[in-house]
Amino acid sequence: MKILGIETSCDETAVAVVTDEKKILANLIFSQIAEHRDYGGVVPEIAARAHMQKITPLVKAALEESGSGFSDLDGIAVTAGPGLIGGLIVGVMVAKAIAAAAKKPLYAINHLEGHALTARLTGEIDFPFLLLLVSGGHCQVLAVENVGKYKLLGSTQDDALGEAFDKTAKMLGLDYPGGPAIEKLAESGDKNRFRLPRAMKGREGCDFSFSGVKTAISHLIRDLGTLTGQDKQDIAASFQQCAAEIVHDRMKNAMEIFCEIHPGSNRLVVSGGVAANKYLKSCLQGLATEENFKLFYPPIPLCTDNAAMIAWAGIEKIMAGHPPDGLDFTPRARWPLY
Ligand code: KG4
Ligand code: ZN
Repeated sequence: MKILGIETSCDETAVAVVTDEKKILANLIFSQIAEHRDYGGVVPEIAARAHMQKITPLVKAALEESGSGFSDLDGIAVTAGPGLIGGLIVGVMVAKAIAAAAKKPLYAINHLEGHALTARLTGEIDFPFLLLLVSGGHCQVLAVENVGKYKLLGSTQDDALGEAFDKTAKMLGLDYPGGPAIEKLAESGDKNRFRLPRAMKGREGCDFSFSGVKTAISHLIRDLGTLTGQDKQDIAASFQQCAAEIVHDRMKNAMEIFCEIHPGSNRLVVSGGVAANKYLKSCLQGLATEENFKLFYPPIPLCTDNAAMIAWAGIEKIMAGHPPDGLDFTPRARWPLY
């Protein structure tokens, strides 16, 4: 089975072709980072225009690379939400056009479901498993019980973790996206110099909050006045340490909650763009070892937004016997997974 995947929910235009034997025949991504850099974040109108320009050549290139024509496809899977509506409309309309012209079934995929199931594309991971999804737009802990069966255990009450990285980076005058820039700066910083608030730490459950850290950093920058290079490195390191400590505390509770619902299923998958952070990864590895969990990370290019995960979610739906969607479905800017 060969499925074409299309992803346009944020600032990556992505097209992939994936098989039910877990072969990624093509996985093309056009990242719009350069288009949005001057604005310090994603501008929805610019994103939608860039998707329009890139999507058709990318579909053509992905089919070529995978050695397929439309007639070889068994279906089209497209991100139908959640995300920026202008971008979603572009991807969904292209997918509908291909499905109608080539008479192929169409699958409307929840972007979060794509992230949730990626680890099963790259590894042998049985249901159920615990998922930490940390990206620029999402910060959630889910029990992934089956295809289409998710239980929300915790989520952020304000900013997503990637957003906190991006906003901290912006305050330090670093380029968007801020996560990689903060991680790099933090390497040479003193993580103990500034004590930032560990929001929610010690509380029951596994909800998150990052807006307090952001405010504390803006006050800190104001009080320091002109920042030296060392100040910036120390702020980056202190922030990263604080974020990792919050995630450690919250995920310890999440593992306990998950084990009560699913005893013996000690698997933790971490996905989303922030999963690329090596410091966070080593903290989570330490926690997993302490709690007797096995930690899984999809490869970084599949942790960040991509279309292979959307094609794969389509394949999982087909294999689980879910029916295709009609051509009349509407993209959804908001679409909770659970
Ligand atoms: O999953 P993703 O590509 O797009 C969304 O769905 O949001 O995640 C992008 C987010 C951005 O906030 C970016 O700053 C963050 O992931 N990120 C990182 C790192 N690499 C990307 N955050 C911390 N450390 C990193 N190395
Ligand atoms: Zn994403």
